[in-house]
Amino acid sequence: MASLDGRVALITGAGSGIGRCAAQLFSRAGAAVAALDQEADGARRTADAILAAGGRATALVADVRDTAAITAAVGTVLDAFGGVDVLYNNAGVSLGGTVLTTSDDEWERCWSVNVMGTVVCSRAVVPHLGPGAAIVNTASVAAHVGVRELAAYTAAKGAIVALTRSMAVDLAPLGVRVNAVSPGTVVTPMSERLILARGGGDRAAGIAATVPQYPIGRLGEPEEIANVALFLAGPGASFVTGVTVAADGGMTAQ
Ligand SMILES: NC(=O)c1ccc[n+]([C@@H]2O[C@H](COP(=O)([O-])OP(=O)(O)OC[C@H]3O[C@@H](n4cnc5c(N)ncnc54)[C@H](O)[C@@H]3O)[C@@H](O)[C@H]2O)c1
Repeated sequence: MASLDGRVALITGAGSGIGRCAAQLFSRAGAAVAALDQEADGARRTADAILAAGGRATALVADVRDTAAITAAVGTVLDAFGGVDVLYNNAGVSLGGTVLTTSDDEWERCWSVNVMGTVVCSRAVVPHLGPGAAIVNTASVAAHVGVRELAAYTAAKGAIVALTRSMAVDLAPLGVRVNAVSPGTVVTPMSERLILARGGGDRAAGIAATVPQYPIGRLGEPEEIANVALFLAGPGASFVTGVTVAADGGMTAQ
């Protein structure tokens, strides 16, 4: 029996990168998957890939900051699959800049997507969760070490680590576990932008400048994050709540 057999998982930011990979992995683990993204094409492509592989999936288009749209999306999940057991708060944005160079609008965007998006989605889903349910939030190595020119992002992801502990304590009496995964640099469209910027437009130079931060000697792959999220979402983690698991090739172990 696969770890998410008979479960229903709502994954945000499922139209790209880690979220798309996790949607397909959770499906292979037996879950019916609601693939939510603000980009309709991405959400649809993820759901189509799952359906083509014989899984159960639906595509949802909503901005995680929009309470009305997220509430409606959760209603669609309940209608389609009869419940929801897992919420993977994966949608996020990364914006560069120091505390001096990040504008108010950039602070607001980074905070509202990464932090309030997690709050909005959790608030909409938790009333429908029961014992055995799980929430997986998304932090980053940037929550644990100072990363240059990512001030708003580091602050937002640091808040996710704290919020995860708080949610875990509050939701434990409901039988709902809450944990987070903290990825290092993983090859996705989001990190491509950072790698290109770091290499002055040269991808190879950007990778060469990034890899030495990782004792394991390479960048991560989306599946290496999705696998941690799958563990945290499933019954193997039944006594695990309130923790942030680093999946970062040893970056924060130094
Ligand atoms: N890739 C990395 O190196 C890395 C490292 C640490 C943490 N993370 C975190 O992992 C998560 C996934 O990152 P990724 O690399 O797969 O990024 P990505 O950019 O490839 O995918 C993110 C997805 O989230 C969606 N999204 C963004 N804002 C949204 C919103 N307001 N509402 C709904 N959907 C929205 C995007 O449309 C996109 O499909 C993010 O939370 C990111 O901060 C990534």
